[in-house]
Amino acid sequence: MTHQPGQGPVQITAEEIQARIQELARKIEADHVGSVPHLICVLNGAFPFFADLVRAIQMPVTVDFLQASSYGGGQESTGEVKLVKDLQFPIKDRDVIVVEDIVDTGLTLSYLMSYLEGRHPSSLRIASLLSKPSRRKVEITIDYLGFTIPNAYVYGFGLDRAQLDRNLPFITSEEPSGDE
Ligand code: XMP
Ligand code: MG
Repeated sequence: MTHQPGQGPVQITAEEIQARIQELARKIEADHVGSVPHLICVLNGAFPFFADLVRAIQMPVTVDFLQASSYGGGQESTGEVKLVKDLQFPIKDRDVIVVEDIVDTGLTLSYLMSYLEGRHPSSLRIASLLSKPSRRKVEITIDYLGFTIPNAYVYGFGLDRAQLDRNLPFITSEEPSGDE
């Protein structure tokens, strides 16, 4: 049976997610008056957040998709990032917003940001649905943050448990493993 929340400390309902996405969309609109922001979805985890966010933004936008995968696999990122799918469109002189599902250690996004900065956008901002600041190894400024969460493994709304549960309309969590 799917669509059942877990027992962990982080529980964010579908309604709470959707309300927060509307607030972030208003902030993005206000920050991009007179521009056409270019939103980049970091696959796979960001896809539901990205789809809802772009539809909430009431101004013209363009979109592109990037897929990064950290070497080693597992639930922990190593900081060594491989680009599995590169951008389709140039970002030079564009107002770019990178859209992520979660910033954990920050290593993945830190790599992606330097990669994107090298392509000379006019501005480069970050939207992330979730952030686990207690796990951070590198400083990341999240311009549009959905929710700050404690250190628990979360899944749903794009985030997976062994590739499953990305289709849950809410975010839920497992009990902390205790060794972190
Ligand atoms: P870093 O540590 O580089 O990692 O900021 C970001 C990536 O790690 C994955 N991640 C998670 N995935 N539940 C997940 O389903 C989690 O609680 C979690 N924490 C980190 C995710 O792929 C993210 O993009
Ligand atoms: Mg991810």
